[in-house]
Order: sequence, then C-alpha cells, then structure tokens
Amino acid sequence: MHFANVDSFDDWRLAARHLLEQNVPPSEIQWTTEKAQPSLFETPKSMEAPRETSTFNVPKAFVEIAKNVACHRDSQRWPLLYRTLWRLRHEDRHLLAITTDDDIYALTQMQKAVTRDVHKMKAFVRFRKVIDANGEDNYVAWHRADHRIVQVAAPFFARRFKGMNWSILTPDESVVWDQHNLRYGPGVPASEAPDGDELEGLWRTYFASIFNPARVKVAMMKREMPIRHWPTLPEASLIHELLENAPRRVESMLQKHEGFAETAMNYMPAQSDLASLRAAASGCRACNLYQCATQTVFGEGPFNARIVLVGEQPGDREDVDGYPFVGPAGMLLNDALERASIQRSEVYVTNVVKHFKFVQNPNARGKQRLHKKPDSREIFACRPWLEAELAVIRPQVVVCLGATPAQALFGRDFRITQDRGKVLPTDWCSRTMATWHPAAILRMPEQLRRQQMLDQLINDLKSVI
Ligand code: URA
Ligand code: SF4
Repeated sequence: MHFANVDSFDDWRLAARHLLEQNVPPSEIQWTTEKAQPSLFETPKSMEAPRETSTFNVPKAFVEIAKNVACHRDSQRWPLLYRTLWRLRHEDRHLLAITTDDDIYALTQMQKAVTRDVHKMKAFVRFRKVIDANGEDNYVAWHRADHRIVQVAAPFFARRFKGMNWSILTPDESVVWDQHNLRYGPGVPASEAPDGDELEGLWRTYFASIFNPARVKVAMMKREMPIRHWPTLPEASLIHELLENAPRRVESMLQKHEGFAETAMNYMPAQSDLASLRAAASGCRACNLYQCATQTVFGEGPFNARIVLVGEQPGDREDVDGYPFVGPAGMLLNDALERASIQRSEVYVTNVVKHFKFVQNPNARGKQRLHKKPDSREIFACRPWLEAELAVIRPQVVVCLGATPAQALFGRDFRITQDRGKVLPTDWCSRTMATWHPAAILRMPEQLRRQQMLDQLINDLKSVI
C-alpha cells in the first residue's frame, strides 16, 4: 500500500505525477489529508508544475477540472482525481467526454459545487471598514465559504479592489491584499462567525500586522512573534510593532492611489435569493444617486432565466414605474427580442446601475429630466447588485446592452464598436456578449445606419439563443 498525504492541488499534483510514473494503480493508494497549518507570512507554494518527466500528457481540461475539484470539501476528491487520471492514461484519453461515467459525473458535480461557491463568494462578501494603526482604511470581511476556495477566488478580489487594503477571513483560510500581493493565512473557525465589532476586534488581533508596511521584515517579525502566540497577543504590542516601523509608512503613502468609496456590498442581505436582494437594494445608499431618484429599479425576470440582459441604468420612465426597460428603449428592446424569437418573460432584464441619474433640462419648461451617464464611481458602487443577480441566476448567456455594462463586465478597455457580437468568457458567465444599446439605436439620426444597428442587435440576440 502506498500512502499519500495531500492538502492542496499542488500537493496532489506532485503526488499523482510520482505515483503515475511508478505505475501505482488507484486501489493501492491510501490518501490522507493531514492539515498543514499555513503561516500568515508564507506566500503559497508556486503553482509551477515540476518538469514533466513521463511521456503522458495530462489533458488540459482535466487540469482545469482538477484545480477546482481540489477545493471541494469531500475527502474523496483526491482518490477520485487520481483514479480519473489513471483511467485517462490507461483506459481512454477521452474519458472526460463520457458524462455518464460515474467518476466523470462525480467530478462534474464537485466542480459545479465549487464554481457555484466561488460565484457566491464574489457576490456576497461584505467588507467592513476598519482604520488601522497607521490611520489607513482597511476593509475586512468574514465569509462562510462552503468549500476551500479562497485561493481560487482571491485573484478576482485583487483585480476588483486593487486600490484598497482588504482581507477576507473564512473558516479554512484567510487572505490579505495590500495593493501589491496576496497573502494567505489561517482560517477563523466557523463557530466564531464574527460580525461587526467582533470582526473588527478579531482583525486587529490577528491580522493588522499583515498590513504593516514593515512586511519586508517578515523574517524578523516571525522570529519575534511565533504564530502560535498570535491569538493571545495583546493589541498593544501589535501597535508597538507597527509604530516602530513607521518610516515605511512613507512608502505606502507614496504608492497610495485612488481611495475607496462605499459600495453596495455593504447592503447585501444575508439571504441570497432575488427577493431578498431586491428588498435590500431598495434601501441602498452606497452612492448619491438614491437621493434624487424615485426608487431603486432592480432587475426583473425569472430566477432561472437562461439569458440575462444588462442595460446601463433606468431612464425617466423606469424610475417612475420601478421596472427596467419599460420606456422607449424598452419598447425597441421588446421589438428586437420578438424578432429574435425570444420571449421577454423568459429573460432576466436588469441594469448595471439601479438608480436613475439625470439633469433637469434648462431649456424646457416644466420638469423634463435628461438621462446622465453614470460615472465610474457610481458603477463601481452599484455593480455588486448586478454581480449578486448573476450569481443567483447563473445564466447561460449574459448580453450587455451598450458600452457601460460591457465595460463593467469585460473591463474598461472593451470597445463595443470593435467587439460587438462576440461571445466571450467573463468572471460572471462563460458566454458573455455585448451589443448595441436600444437607446443608441433610437438616437441614431441616420436612417440607414439606424436600420443596420437594429439588424445587428436582432442578429446578436439570435446568435445566443
Ligand atoms: N436604458 C437602460 O439602460 N436601462 C433601462 O432600464 C432603460 C433604459
Ligand atoms: Fe445603491 Fe446603486 Fe442606487 Fe447607488 S445607484 S444608491 S449603488 S442602488
């Protein structure tokens, strides 16, 4: 009997490669998971694969599945992964395509559970602002992930919240972003599920020093403060440590860029269904737009919709009625959907920004309100609602109507004139596409061009059914 003790994808990959080279069949391996306590000061092991020595090339698709499945909580994942690898080599290179195979089915279920959990984490992490000993803002969140997904999900948060210091604590692991690096550390037991002040206290005790610009003196600090003593360390000594290294604060001040404003994350409900989200969004005050608008216009449509359409923000009519795309742009959208043979009642329709932004038209008598484009701060603040909607619905296709939703999901460099109609993967959906906004078509003065854009909108919609 062979024994393999693994606790991460990298461990498993090393062990599996070795065992496969030795031709050890799955039935002769006992897999164990002896947890190694991660150190707050150690960066994760390199994801680099060791040099391939055997002639067997593991299919890329399997590596991708294995990375996800490795995060699953089920202890059977390691033997299952190895058995599949073994069978890929000795039985059938195309095993992954046989979805009725018991092993492949089990792997797929695990992968789905992990992907869903990652989506949930992206959508439902709620940060609390904490001022650290340097007087800097830090954002701390506690999140109960179902699986061990911190290292898979963390790069997403690093991209999204690049310009702020944040940490996310989960039962298995914690991660800290200092605007440069991600660091992984121990988890916080689920029984302690901290909230509010408790979370702040916990963060101060355990995690504050990670944010210390003196992180370059890691070895020294490690020597001075053995990790096992951390839970009992009085806060005062942490502060002392921070102050001693005050000169380094200059470095971080120089590197500091755009500040971080409040976001809708702070209004997320505990329940993650659409009704709870809608109710919570109705009280959102994460940006100033709620002040002048009539109401929050949340998305509308079935929770199991295959297609989600995302607009920019509600218009005048939507603001009054409380539903998305019910004004002139909505009429054109309905027409386009019908001509693409899509039932509007089967799609979920929403916007990146949930409140109407407008200016009063100075030339008009009465109270004509003119739509004003949301700025990047408002989009940033509101996006968590859209992300939560997408995490709940998990549509097969997301269609961005116009540049604002397209840039929110694809990134700021996205150019609708260049990449309209292309189906591409994003963090939110493996099939995401951008097309013309109905209002842009309505505004087009040139009749020929207008007709062409309408045809393109209809064809784009047809292409994703
Ligand atoms: N334009 C949008 O982007 N969204 C609406 O809901 C209405 C008009
Ligand atoms: Fe909240 Fe979005 Fe409304 Fe701003 S626009 S208050 S973020 S719902």
